[in-house]
Amino acid sequence: MDKLVITGKTPLKGDVIISGAKNAAVAILPATLLIDGVCTIDNLPNISDVKIFCDILKELGAKITWISENELTIDTRNISENNAPLDMTSKFRASYYLIGALLGRCKNVTVGMPGGCKLGARPIDQHIKGFEALGAKVDVGQGKITAKADKLVGNSVYLDIVSVGATINVMLCAVLAEGTTIIDNAKEPNIVDVANFLNTMGADIRGAGTDVIKINGVKKLHGNATYSVVPDQIEAGTFMLAAVASRGDVTIKNCITKHLEPITAKILEMGAYAEDLGGDTLRVWCDKTPNKVNIKTLPYPGFPTDLQPQMGVVLSTANGTSIINESIWESRFQYTEELNKMGAKITAQGKTAIFEGVESLSGAPVYATDLRAGAALIIAGIIADGKTEVYNLNHIDRGYENIEEKFRKLGANIQRVSEEVAKDE
Ligand code: EPU
Repeated sequence: MDKLVITGKTPLKGDVIISGAKNAAVAILPATLLIDGVCTIDNLPNISDVKIFCDILKELGAKITWISENELTIDTRNISENNAPLDMTSKFRASYYLIGALLGRCKNVTVGMPGGCKLGARPIDQHIKGFEALGAKVDVGQGKITAKADKLVGNSVYLDIVSVGATINVMLCAVLAEGTTIIDNAKEPNIVDVANFLNTMGADIRGAGTDVIKINGVKKLHGNATYSVVPDQIEAGTFMLAAVASRGDVTIKNCITKHLEPITAKILEMGAYAEDLGGDTLRVWCDKTPNKVNIKTLPYPGFPTDLQPQMGVVLSTANGTSIINESIWESRFQYTEELNKMGAKITAQGKTAIFEGVESLSGAPVYATDLRAGAALIIAGIIADGKTEVYNLNHIDRGYENIEEKFRKLGANIQRVSEEVAKDE
């Protein structure tokens, strides 16, 4: 088992360049299935979720040519399969976008039940509700989902909860449908990015990023264009919170500062500093113990659930007692047990956790329970006294490009040790 070995206690200092957004990339890749042509995508994060998606697209008949580590062309003119390989789709969550995209293109699709981080129940009833509103018949059973339609016709889609995935999936399904679809739901940056991508390729989507998205169906997406994936809001937020946790001074480049406002607001409330330097650059620094703050995770533009564990590390050594309420996922406090092994004083129950700030954390072997938990444990290792070993790196590699290299450039003492070397130790 590979592990990250981190020797703390380092104030992070320097510049970090943010990669393209994982959660936009994993929707844009399946969206290419709606195109009858060739498109180029750049600023793709070099992460395992992107690689798996490319493998699935190849299985479906797409031709993928890598131009560089972060740029590829996809030729979807000869899609020959509408059944995505069940073992591959069940490896990660975003495979659910294959349903909307292949339904849109072929009117008939089967995929395995989506997998992904274990954050509690992850139903897709709202996705299904949207597909059905456009005329599809959906069957779920025996570990797979089948959706079929004679034709897809635009409709008004009212989702019962705010869902990023369902909003994007219904949008994918509606792009080539007859008539107009209206979705009144989430307005998160990754949704806007997928809409921008589809519009660049010939779709007619208006209002993404506002309360109401209007999709006028078109006959064909032409491709024949280049699109650059939006910078990753969550990766940027991870480094912002790492700067505060380590009492460091980090300049975050290639980020959209507007998307980071919910995090900046909390950083200022804690008594740390954040300054927009212009040109997609944000400086975050902290020169004293941060004050306690309370956090409630909410859909965008609220505080993102995907930064809740990283914020938990900051609060572990803040002045006083802070409370986090997790309102999106039911099991997103598993990381608190790992932080407690490092000397944190956290009591988590249900969707609430109480963080009693301690003076410092101390190194320990810890296990990433999911992607963002993994990022949080790396930050914990960087601020802790002594040596921390972080295991279960497969979670982290799903969503962060070159994470240890980026932290190393900021001064962290962090090494990836491979299984063989680890055994010899
Ligand atoms: N929900 C339902 N029914 C549905 C869909 C969602 O009840 O049909 C519930 C979920 O159980 C959850 C809430 O609605 O309680 C919000 O879920 P949403 O659909 O917005 O989540 P998602 O689209 O599946 C994406 C990200 C997650 C991120 C959430 C919230 C991707 C691939 N994943 O998930 O990212 O936490 O939005 O912002 O885009 C991560 O990157 O670590 C991660 C987990």
